[in-house]
Amino acid sequence: MPRIAYLNGRFVRHAEARVHIEDRGYQLADGVYEVWAVFDGRLADAAGHFERLARSLAELRIDQPMSREALAIVLGETVRRNRVKDGLVYLQVTRGVAPRDHAFPDPPAAPAMVVTAKRIDLAAAEARAAKGVAVITVPENRWGRCDIKSIALLPNVLARQAAREAGAAEAWFVDKMGLVTEGAASNAWIVDAAGSLRTRNIQANILRGITRKSLLALAEEAGLTVDERGFTAEEAKGAREAFITGAGTLVLPVVRVDGAVLGNGEPGPLAKRLRQLYIDEARRAAGETPPIKNQKGDQTRVERQEVEPAGHLPQRRAPGADAPDHLPGERGQAAGGGQLVR
Ligand SMILES: Cc1ncc(COP(=O)(O)O)c(C=O)c1O
Repeated sequence: MPRIAYLNGRFVRHAEARVHIEDRGYQLADGVYEVWAVFDGRLADAAGHFERLARSLAELRIDQPMSREALAIVLGETVRRNRVKDGLVYLQVTRGVAPRDHAFPDPPAAPAMVVTAKRIDLAAAEARAAKGVAVITVPENRWGRCDIKSIALLPNVLARQAAREAGAAEAWFVDKMGLVTEGAASNAWIVDAAGSLRTRNIQANILRGITRKSLLALAEEAGLTVDERGFTAEEAKGAREAFITGAGTLVLPVVRVDGAVLGNGEPGPLAKRLRQLYIDEARRAAGETPPIKNQKGDQTRVERQEVEPAGHLPQRRAPGADAPDHLPGERGQAAGGGQLVR
């Protein structure tokens, strides 16, 4: 079965999906992204990711490409067309296609949007979590707006590559105060000597992880002591336990920091328990999301769309321009009053 991507209003074969050479994402990293975990074909922590997407777009003054309802249809449809049961769905929005110039295009370009979905081998992910992973630390060298989920990821790319070359799974950035901010693509946590869960607070220059937020709520519900306070690399090396969180990793135990072995070198009990708590709750909440149907129970127009060869793609057409093949909701109207993924 070929993989399918959503690209500016069409579902196309993934292998043939192309963006314009003057897409501002391609030339200037002028765009944002979001990633949702998928459980049983439904989006996990859906609302939190939608809210962060809206915030990232607003902070960069990029227009919403379509209503949240329509976005939910597109995401759900991309998941369905790729037959993803457990996996990830990726969405990227850029400031659109325009002649290269650092300042915003004037008149504004229509935002460009891409969605892809992929399966995750849950058994392999569980085996990895059961062993735990290593992290290294690297100097923080990112811009001051890491709260925006920008596609400009070069420091993260270099940090993750450094981790890979060191045989580690993740790199933790350490800021000028000597405190760990977060990972290249995850939030960083320890269980300190006093048994408290520690993770950097969101006033620091970090991405406000959606998994982090859900896990904080679950930890508090479970009566665990949570302390949103930074920790040093030394504290991490001496910690009882450590782990990382993110839509891609969920809750992943860390067993080595800069080569120092934590505890007995195996995932700690709290990290294992929190992973299970998070997965159970995310699966339960995702399962409560309604199927992707409109109120009459009809299939949406999206589901009747044929996959077009990528060569037929409109490259500069505004989402919502008069085009019969566009998705409902792209002109900002409700998508057929759809009952959608939360
Ligand atoms: C830099 C960074 N921090 C934290 C996270 C975790 O965020 P979330 O839990 O919302 O996936 C990510 C996820 O990609 C990330 O890139």
